[in-house]
Amino acid sequence: MKSYFSTSIPTFCLLSIMAITSGFTRATKSDSEWLVAEAKALIETGWWSNYTRAENHCTWPGIQCNAGTVIEIDLGGHGLNGDITPQIGALSKLQLLNLSWNSLTGELPSSLGNLTQLAVLDASYNHIHSIPLAIQRMENLVSLSLSE
Ligand SMILES: *[C@@H]1O[C@H](CO)[C@@H](O)[C@H](O)[C@H]1NC(C)=O
Ligand SMILES: *[C@@H]1O[C@H](CO)[C@@H](O)[C@H](O)[C@H]1NC(C)=O
Ligand SMILES: *[C@@H]1O[C@H](CO)[C@@H](O)[C@H](O)[C@H]1NC(C)=O
Repeated sequence: MKSYFSTSIPTFCLLSIMAITSGFTRATKSDSEWLVAEAKALIETGWWSNYTRAENHCTWPGIQCNAGTVIEIDLGGHGLNGDITPQIGALSKLQLLNLSWNSLTGELPSSLGNLTQLAVLDASYNHIHSIPLAIQRMENLVSLSLSE
């Protein structure tokens, strides 16, 4: 128990600090360009097919934003099917991605390796058959669930 707490608490603090600072270090694109690119990537996943770029994507189901940037996608048990599109890798500030309990197929896209801030990836209970090596690049990952 002791060693569990002594290692997990610093990790948690680090993630919190990163979440706070990421608001100030947003990439090279202007804010509006960034938002358009983000909404485009979300639409291309096909998971929000009823929504349009004109709406604020931070209000779409399962999405959480921080300072206007997507940091969480929680679509566990949302009846998603088909392959995961590589565009998901463009959401570079993503910290949590929960796709569990769906009917997703194919392989996890290697573009997931671009999600260097991702701390939690839950793709369990799907029909995913392979995992790319690029996943190693997700250097902040603390929880990875790919069972079943
Ligand atoms: C999206 O649109 C389809 C067809 O128009 C509809 O059946 C479905 O319930 C809608 N989903 C949501 C989440 O609004
Ligand atoms: C992902 O969503 C499922 C279904 O809602 C839930 O059971 C699971 O605990 C979630 N995983 C994480 C890591 O939050
Ligand atoms: C992910 O990064 C690679 C280079 O490492 C790049 O070629 C690719 O376009 C990126 N994918 C996305 C979806 O941003």
